[in-house]
Amino acid sequence: MLIAGNWKMFKGPAEAGAYCRALREAELGSCDVVVCPPFVSLAAAVAALAGTEIAVAAQNVHWALEGAFTGEVSAPMLRELGVYGTIVGHSERRQFFGETDETVASRVRAALEHDLGVIACVGETGAQRAAGETEAVLARQVEAIAAASPGRGQLVLAYEPVWAIGSGKTATPELAQAAHAFIKTILDVPVLYGGSLKPDNATALLAQPDVDGALVGGASLEVESFAAICREAA
Ligand code: 13P
Repeated sequence: MLIAGNWKMFKGPAEAGAYCRALREAELGSCDVVVCPPFVSLAAAVAALAGTEIAVAAQNVHWALEGAFTGEVSAPMLRELGVYGTIVGHSERRQFFGETDETVASRVRAALEHDLGVIACVGETGAQRAAGETEAVLARQVEAIAAASPGRGQLVLAYEPVWAIGSGKTATPELAQAAHAFIKTILDVPVLYGGSLKPDNATALLAQPDVDGALVGGASLEVESFAAICREAA
C-alpha cells in the first residue's frame, strides 16, 4: 500500500519542515508513505525527513533537462534536491493550466528516464461520467501514459474522479474498484484512489482488491488525519 499526500498549493518551507518533523514522530503503520509539497518546500521536507522511510515527491516536472521554460522545473533539478518522484497530470493541471495527454506523456517519459518515481493521474469529470464516457476518457488518458512508459520504471497511476476532488463526494468503493480494474486492463501497474478520501472512508476504499493506495489532498494537510489514513492502509 502506498499513501501519498498531495499538498497542492499549501505550506511554505517553514510549515513544511514543522509538518515533516511531526510526521516522523507519528505512528504510520507499515505502508509506504510519500509527501508532495510545493516546489519551494521540497528542500525543507527532504531535510526534515532525512533518515526516514518517508519519501518526498514533487507535484509536477518538465520534460526538458533545462531550457527557456519559465516557471518549470526539470527532473535532474528535483533529483539534485533529493526528491524521489513526482505527480504528473493532476486534473488541476489539466483543467487550469492547459495540460494535455501529450504534455502529460512527455512529462512521464522524462521523469521515468531520469529515475524519478511517477504518480500519473487520470479521471473523468462529472459531465463525462453522466454522459457515459468514463471508460473512453480513462482509456484515452491511460493509453497516453502507457505509450510514454515502455519500461514502466517506478510508475503508479492515480484514479481521481474530478467530481470527487475536494467536493466531499467520495466515489463508492464499488465505483472505484470498477474504474481501477478497467484501468489495469490497459496498464497493469498499481492504482491509487484520490478524491475526498478521509480517515473515516479510507478503510472501505482501500479494502477493494484493485485499490493499491491513495493520493490524498485535503486530509493530508494535518499530520493527524494523514497518519490515520496511513494506519488504515497498513
Ligand atoms: P482531496 O482529497 O482534497 O479531494 O484531493 C484529492 C486530490 O486531488 C489528490 O491529488
